[in-house]
Amino acid sequence: MKWAEISLDFFVLMYVFMPIQSEDGSVEKSSTGHLEEILLNASHLVTFLDLSQKYISLVDTNKFRLFPKLKSLNLSHNLIEELDFEVFRFNTALEQLDLSHNKLSKISCSSLHFIKNVKKLNLSYTNSSVVYLCKEITVLSNLEYLGLSAERIQKQDFLNLAQRQLQCVFLGLENLREYKSGSIQLLNTSKLHVHLSKYINNQFLFYDALATATTLEISEIECSFCDNYTSLLSMINKNSRVRTLILSNTTMPWKAMREIFLSVWRSSVEHFYVNMFTLINEFTYIQTDFSDTSLKSLVIDHIITKVFYFTPPHPLNTFSEMLLENFTFSNADITHLFCPPRPSIFRFLNLSKNRITDEIFQQCDNLTALELLNLCSNKLEKLSKISSMTSNMKSLKHLDLSQNILQYEQGEICNWADTLVILNLSENRLMNEAFACLPINIQVLDLTRNQITIIPKTLKDLTFLRELNLSFNRLRNIPDCHLLGRSLRSLRVDGNFINSPSVAFYQNCHNITKISAGHNPYQCDCELRGFRHLEHVTPGRLAGWPDSYRCEYPEDFKGLLLKDFYLSEISCNIYMLLAIVLSSVVIALLLIIFSCLYFDLPWYIRMLYQWIRTKHRVRNAQDLLKDKCFHAFVSYCEEDSMWVRNTLIPNLERGDGTIKICYHERHFVPGKAIVDNIMDSIEKSFKSIFVLSPNFVQSEWCHYELYFAQHALFGRNYDNLILILLNPIPDYLIPKKFQKLKTIMKHRTYLEWPKEKTKHGLFWATLRDSIHVNLPTNEDDV
Ligand SMILES: *[C@@H]1O[C@H](CO)[C@@H](O)[C@H](O)[C@H]1NC(C)=O
Ligand SMILES: *[C@@H]1O[C@H](CO)[C@@H](O)[C@H](O)[C@H]1NC(C)=O
Ligand SMILES: *[C@@H]1O[C@H](CO)[C@@H](O)[C@H](O)[C@H]1NC(C)=O
Ligand SMILES: *[C@@H]1O[C@H](CO)[C@@H](O)[C@H](O)[C@H]1NC(C)=O
Ligand SMILES: *[C@@H]1O[C@H](CO)[C@@H](O)[C@H](O)[C@H]1NC(C)=O
Ligand SMILES: *[C@@H]1O[C@H](CO)[C@@H](O)[C@H](O)[C@H]1NC(C)=O
Ligand SMILES: *[C@@H]1O[C@H](CO)[C@@H](O)[C@H](O)[C@H]1NC(C)=O
Ligand SMILES: *[C@@H]1O[C@H](CO)[C@@H](O)[C@H](O)[C@H]1NC(C)=O
Ligand SMILES: *[C@@H]1O[C@H](CO)[C@@H](O)[C@H](O)[C@H]1NC(C)=O
Ligand SMILES: *[C@@H]1O[C@H](CO)[C@@H](O)[C@H](O)[C@H]1NC(C)=O
Ligand SMILES: *[C@@H]1O[C@H](CO)[C@@H](O)[C@H](O)[C@H]1NC(C)=O
Ligand SMILES: *[C@@H]1O[C@H](CO)[C@@H](O)[C@H](O)[C@H]1NC(C)=O
Repeated sequence: MKWAEISLDFFVLMYVFMPIQSEDGSVEKSSTGHLEEILLNASHLVTFLDLSQKYISLVDTNKFRLFPKLKSLNLSHNLIEELDFEVFRFNTALEQLDLSHNKLSKISCSSLHFIKNVKKLNLSYTNSSVVYLCKEITVLSNLEYLGLSAERIQKQDFLNLAQRQLQCVFLGLENLREYKSGSIQLLNTSKLHVHLSKYINNQFLFYDALATATTLEISEIECSFCDNYTSLLSMINKNSRVRTLILSNTTMPWKAMREIFLSVWRSSVEHFYVNMFTLINEFTYIQTDFSDTSLKSLVIDHIITKVFYFTPPHPLNTFSEMLLENFTFSNADITHLFCPPRPSIFRFLNLSKNRITDEIFQQCDNLTALELLNLCSNKLEKLSKISSMTSNMKSLKHLDLSQNILQYEQGEICNWADTLVILNLSENRLMNEAFACLPINIQVLDLTRNQITIIPKTLKDLTFLRELNLSFNRLRNIPDCHLLGRSLRSLRVDGNFINSPSVAFYQNCHNITKISAGHNPYQCDCELRGFRHLEHVTPGRLAGWPDSYRCEYPEDFKGLLLKDFYLSEISCNIYMLLAIVLSSVVIALLLIIFSCLYFDLPWYIRMLYQWIRTKHRVRNAQDLLKDKCFHAFVSYCEEDSMWVRNTLIPNLERGDGTIKICYHERHFVPGKAIVDNIMDSIEKSFKSIFVLSPNFVQSEWCHYELYFAQHALFGRNYDNLILILLNPIPDYLIPKKFQKLKTIMKHRTYLEWPKEKTKHGLFWATLRDSIHVNLPTNEDDV
């Protein structure tokens, strides 16, 4: 008991931490985090839980309350003995419950209403000696499928279900020992599926089965001398209720199966399926009259032959002689099927998944009614040979040759049926030459997964071609529309090597209403913009847009959806780009010219250059500031003194004491020799400012001052000279003996006093910056 509880918990946990199938079918992986919370969060999404074969013997409420969205629960192949449906009280969404293969001996009928929404309930193989059917079964108003099994079936067992219309009832009757005639006839179900065993031999059961449902499936018949089965199945007749008969997983000799065929041939059955038939003991041809039947289709799917020796005539002739419209003989490893010896009424022949070779139906003139021939997944090799096979099939419309190893070599002659309109050549080994071997009236052509690299001009001759599928070939470009027939409406070229679809394609192909071109390695550049345009102009024309259209190159755009890929008009149009570059150059030039003319730009530039230079110098000059007590000494001539006192000094000093200016009217010590005074002032000042004007060059004193300052400049190797050009000085005004001044004027850039008021701000700022340093604070110098 304890072990079982643990094991259920363990598997619930396991389940939650494994990929989980949520409602929309997507698989979610839980991440790490708080364990319980994840468990809870994840379990809330679970809709499908497979707990089969987990040795569970006990189930309790708490386990399933974690899964409120649970729709399908599989508890099959466990060890559960007792079940109270109350454990599902929180699983109101539960629709499918598989309890088969347990040891259930007790089921609580009174709790059935806890699963009242269940549609499929499987209670087969649950070790119940009687069919467990309680009155309460009527609570399950949505029930469609019911799986049961029993050892004894008595009439009243199904009484409670008599009023309920079901879709399918499964009866596992391997262990049936007792059956009361008429019991299962009480069931009202469209399909009845009966599992039998080797030893079942109850004609009443068979009789009832044939009379109960319109679809009857009998599975797991295994016999080697099958007289009992064949005689039981021979009860089937024109008055039986059965319209569809399915024999699945049957093992018997051909002789017995042939007898069943004969019984079915003359009965009410319209569709006969033989799925998974294991042929044992013998396989011989016996001439049989397979005409006159109400059978419309016969499907023989998956035959395993354990017989390897035949005496002629070949037993496969049996199938060629059958007279019915739909015949499927697939998954049977046959290499051949014979041409019917008489005109046949086969309309649909499905011979897929065999090992049929090119010899099939060659020169066969008795398949004139055949409309569809499916030879998918066989061993066909030569396309030309197959084409001549069709030449006698006067009604053939649809031929499926997919999944073979077909090839075509240039020069081989093809001869297709004129009636052929649908041809499936997908998954073969065809190359470009194959276009020379196509039916002229073809409308739908599937060439998926071949080795085609280019579409030839001859395709245009297929004037009726409506749909062309060239997905997963090796095309490099979408073909031009004038190469395609004029009837073409749908074109698929997914998964090729198309990187730059041609412009002509989306300009000329108005007639094509559906194009599928996803999963190609698109080169996202200017040319591709036209392709995007296609979707803009006619939305819905590109199938799979936008998800399967992605950039492959360049590397930067790899994986980007074409929908989101954007390049501006400019970057793609060279003329536009040129025009824009040129016009911006012109505009810039115009702007510069305008600024020079109107704002005197050169002056500003020079000023700015000065300012930067002085900033730089000031920084370098910090260590030379010892024994300086003025920021600047100003030298000017008498005529300019008004400007100096009223404009220069106030603007530099600003009355806040940060800048100290030395000039002779204020600081020259009376009595001291004038030359000493000048020397002193220059020595004590960080800079010397000279206000240059025509008057200045005339004044002798000023020349002295300039001479000293210059001396200091050269002697100490730093730049302490600032020249302000107050008024322009014509060259001729400078006397010849002042060669030095001339040189200075030439080499040293000076500050020009601007006449416009707007420029004064910058002028003062530059000047103040050039003299503004932190002087050592010794106040005793004044
Ligand atoms: C669990 O779900 C809640 C709300 O739905 C959410 O806030 C919380 O982050 C989830 N926890 C984990 C671990 O995913
Ligand atoms: C439950 O599991 C068993 C065994 O794994 C399987 O045969 C059966 O089909 C499952 N039932 C459903 C409803 O999926
Ligand atoms: C079936 O259930 C009965 C009790 O009803 C029990 O005696 C028997 O052993 C069970 N059989 C199997 C195979 O579990
Ligand atoms: C019920 O159980 C039987 C036997 O395991 C199985 O063949 C059948 O598919 C099951 N049906 C459903 C709906 O699970
Ligand atoms: C089955 O049920 C449907 C609807 O309840 C009813 O029309 C039909 O006659 C019933 N068939 C049989 C055989 O009782
Ligand atoms: C066939 O049926 C007979 C009686 O009807 C019975 O004696 C015999 O055992 C059955 N054979 C098989 C293999 O079930
Ligand atoms: C087919 O039937 C045999 C018994 O006749 C059984 O052993 C086998 O498992 C069945 N196979 C399938 C796929 O149901
Ligand atoms: C016969 O086969 C064709 C093609 O598979 C199908 O369309 C048609 O419905 C079938 N007819 C019958 C009576 O099964
Ligand atoms: C086709 O049927 C005729 C009889 O109608 C028969 O003579 C002929 O041999 C058959 N053709 C083939 C290739 O079997
Ligand atoms: C042919 O048979 C195969 C295998 O049974 C089946 O998958 C396919 O749908 C059938 N095709 C047609 C056209 O009936
Ligand atoms: C051609 O056959 C393939 C696989 O055999 C199938 O997927 C495809 O739908 C078929 N094409 C047409 C047009 O029927
Ligand atoms: C488009 O289709 C019409 C009508 O079928 C046809 O007349 C016309 O030639 C086609 N145009 C092109 C370019 O193929």
